[in-house]
Amino acid sequence: MFVTLRVNGRSYEVAVRPNDTLLDVLREKLGLTGTKKGCDLGDCGACTVLLDGKPVNSCLVLAVDAARGEVVTVEGLAQNGELHPLQEAFIKYGAIQCGYCSPGMLMSLKALLDREPHPTRDQVMNAIAGNLCRCGGYHKIADAALAASRAGERGGEE
Ligand code: FES
Ligand code: FES
Repeated sequence: MFVTLRVNGRSYEVAVRPNDTLLDVLREKLGLTGTKKGCDLGDCGACTVLLDGKPVNSCLVLAVDAARGEVVTVEGLAQNGELHPLQEAFIKYGAIQCGYCSPGMLMSLKALLDREPHPTRDQVMNAIAGNLCRCGGYHKIADAALAASRAGERGGEE
């Protein structure tokens, strides 16, 4: 069957099977490989994208169900050639280690900053509780998220 997926502000007409996951369609049919496949079971958060502004594990969402909403992937974070403040902060604070979890972390944190622009460290840690980083560098990730929220306050110069 064909569905229309809205991803990063673009519409894609795509042939899917009823049991295709959003994750597989993003990666294999749309070529958006920034979203990572870790466990494929809903445990690791590597596949996190925003669906109507909420973070979801795209390995647990059927593509046909996502066709009703707006999807944002890590490829949608940079705007007009400018990295998102979270991406800048991840680089500056060394929050990217092996990098496999980074896209999912970024999307969970974007959802947090969109609803809570000035989170506490606890709120940041809660927001990424479903994102497994095997490198174990959660403190640098939290530092980066808090710096990005401060950068938002000052118009993004941090
Ligand atoms: S790949 Fe989806 S939660 Fe691990
Ligand atoms: S940076 Fe390696 S899994 Fe998180």
